[in-house]
Amino acid sequence: MRIVVTGGAGFIGSNFVRYVLGEHAADEIVVLDKLTYAGNLDNLRDVAGDPRYSFVQGDICDPAVVDRVAAHCDAIVNFAAETHVDRSISGPDDFIRTDVIGTHVLLEAVRAHGVGRFVQISTDEVYGDILAGASVETDALRPSSPYSASKAGGELLVLAYRRTYEAPVVITRSSNNYGPFQYPEKIVPLFVTNALDGQPLPVYGDGRNVRDWIYVDDNCRALDLVLREGRDGEIYNVGGGNEVANLDLTRGILAELGLGEELVRYVTDRPGHDRRYALDCGKLRTTLGWEPQVAFAEGLARTVTWYADHRDWWEKIKSGEWRRYYERQYRDLAI
Ligand code: NAD
Ligand code: TYD
Repeated sequence: MRIVVTGGAGFIGSNFVRYVLGEHAADEIVVLDKLTYAGNLDNLRDVAGDPRYSFVQGDICDPAVVDRVAAHCDAIVNFAAETHVDRSISGPDDFIRTDVIGTHVLLEAVRAHGVGRFVQISTDEVYGDILAGASVETDALRPSSPYSASKAGGELLVLAYRRTYEAPVVITRSSNNYGPFQYPEKIVPLFVTNALDGQPLPVYGDGRNVRDWIYVDDNCRALDLVLREGRDGEIYNVGGGNEVANLDLTRGILAELGLGEELVRYVTDRPGHDRRYALDCGKLRTTLGWEPQVAFAEGLARTVTWYADHRDWWEKIKSGEWRRYYERQYRDLAI
């Protein structure tokens, strides 16, 4: 199978590329990525010499480049997105452009070239927060942030293309991923790398917001299954089944590093901060036989060790654009 992976130079995309090349000897992958601040060819360095892999730098909002790569592929897996909630609050424009309009450009190419499968990578954040129970795929969408609203907009277009044009689409909604190669703006890599440098860990609000954490390899395995065996038009929740409050996550990271709580700082809460997400993944389990394999404690230990062993990777990132963003976002820490 020849697969176009958009956003393949980002966190989950690069892990997915590595996973597919490792599992499917006959597959070829073309990564289409704009290389925004979050895209990084270092994430793909270990596959760069593989003859089954190629890279095209381009924007999913640009129909010319999308047309070129879509013309000769069997499937498109769309990871390309603006992904950070805090950045969507300070500047939503790029989110609407990439996550909604970019998805539309890809869907048009699917139609024009008769691409056999389109996988839209979405998020549990489209459900909005839920204080009790777990979201199922048929629940209403109630996004809270410009990020999650843009992802919901992209999804709605995907579903409309299914209904109207019978496009061969599937959607996954995963919970919070963690693991190697995650840009250090998200809580896990930010807190691990800050702690390694003896810098403060800025906990928003009361630290009691809950996320369900999935190790990135477990998500990649689910995505690969959905790509090959998912039913057209279906939506699949993909969660790790690990509901953890941010403060407990923070303590877990510090414990892995043998540190106490001295670095913890409570800072101003994120506007509109979703309190809790939780996913019911019964559909993926029963229809495709997927189960997460990495226990949270094991995944967190592996992840902390990876960042401790890959200072060269994140020290390069934590300069330039990252530093300007950090100083803007975490003004409280300067007081
Ligand atoms: P990321 O921010 O690490 O990477 C995004 C990638 O997309 C980058 O390589 C970037 O250069 C590329 N990109 C951005 N705009 C582009 C454009 N216009 N054209 C082409 N490429 C572009 O993101 P991630 O955490 O790997 O997330 C991947 C996908 O998974 C996203 O769609 C996100 O919404 C979804 N998701 C992520 C999580 C999570 O916990 N990280 C959870 C659920 C869903
Ligand atoms: P994040 O990693 O940004 O993912 P998302 O907002 O998509 O779930 O945040 C995860 C949780 O951690 C969320 O409740 C916000 C919180 N958080 C902090 O408390 N401090 C931080 O510096 C960051 C980035 C996040």
